[in-house]
Amino acid sequence: MTVRIKLWDLPTRVFHWLLLALVTASFITGWTGGNAMEWHGRAGITIIGLLSFRLAWGLIGSTHARFSRFVRGPAAIAGYLRGGWIGVGHNPLGALSVLAMLALLLCQALGGLFANDDIAYNGPYFNAISKNLSDWITGWHKRGAWLILGVIGLHLAAILYYTHVRKETLIQPMLTGTKEVPETLAGESARGGSALALVVALVLGFAACWAASGVLLEKAPVVQTIQTTAPATKPAANAGW
Ligand code: HEM
Ligand code: HEM
Repeated sequence: MTVRIKLWDLPTRVFHWLLLALVTASFITGWTGGNAMEWHGRAGITIIGLLSFRLAWGLIGSTHARFSRFVRGPAAIAGYLRGGWIGVGHNPLGALSVLAMLALLLCQALGGLFANDDIAYNGPYFNAISKNLSDWITGWHKRGAWLILGVIGLHLAAILYYTHVRKETLIQPMLTGTKEVPETLAGESARGGSALALVVALVLGFAACWAASGVLLEKAPVVQTIQTTAPATKPAANAGW
């Protein structure tokens, strides 16, 4: 006997498919360069917002979206590899690739804020550092893109393996939010992730987008040079006053 349980809440699913769209857009615009760089920056900044939202949702979201639920130690990973893992949600090994993807994307997008394309586009925090440092970060930004492609490749290979070899569908729950499981796992249905938690995570996500867009640099105190000599031309006197 099987039962249908709630697995991925709506915010996690929307996060995932938006992330897929924006990461794809970042690759296309990054490789196109030129005028597409403005859109590259916008997509990347939105990714920072999305990831910040996901980090918050990993603490206050519903059961299977929580890091405490799926981030496990080496013993659990070894148990999974021996075939002794029974559960729903990210398995202990898959959880590692989830963390790697989130961390790499965050580093990539944060690095992009300081990068430059040597032509016409600079990340919004380019002026906060030296050109040399920006060039160094840009080098890592370019290498990082290949690393991310590799991890995404592994992600897709794992999903294909589960679908075709293990005959377990992972994609459908990421679309609908529910999954058919053995009756023994009926108690695993997702709980929590209230409307208030969603508002808090959304506010954090928007705040991160706002900060990433360069406002912190614009708001930094400007050091003014005090003029010690008299101005070269005096303002004309007001006749009649
Ligand atoms: C740019 C490409 C992609 C990125 C960056 C990406 C990223 C991620 C991340 C971060 C998670 C963890 C979700 C969470 O807990 O928040 C995840 C899970 C998942 N992704 Fe993707 N993804 C990509 C493409 C795809 C595609 C094309 C598919 C399917 C056609 C897919 C299917 C899934 C599924 C089924 C899961 C849940 C895995 C599980 O049950 O443990 N992803 N993905
Ligand atoms: C996860 C998000 C991001 C991804 C996946 C990504 C990916 C890429 C890719 C594939 C390139 C082309 C690299 C090459 O030509 O070899 C690139 C270039 C670049 N990106 Fe990003 N990027 C992201 C976020 C950002 C952000 C947030 C910014 C700034 C707001 C940014 C600024 C730049 C700049 C300035 C370049 C030009 C580098 C050059 O041509 O020398 N990126 N990025």
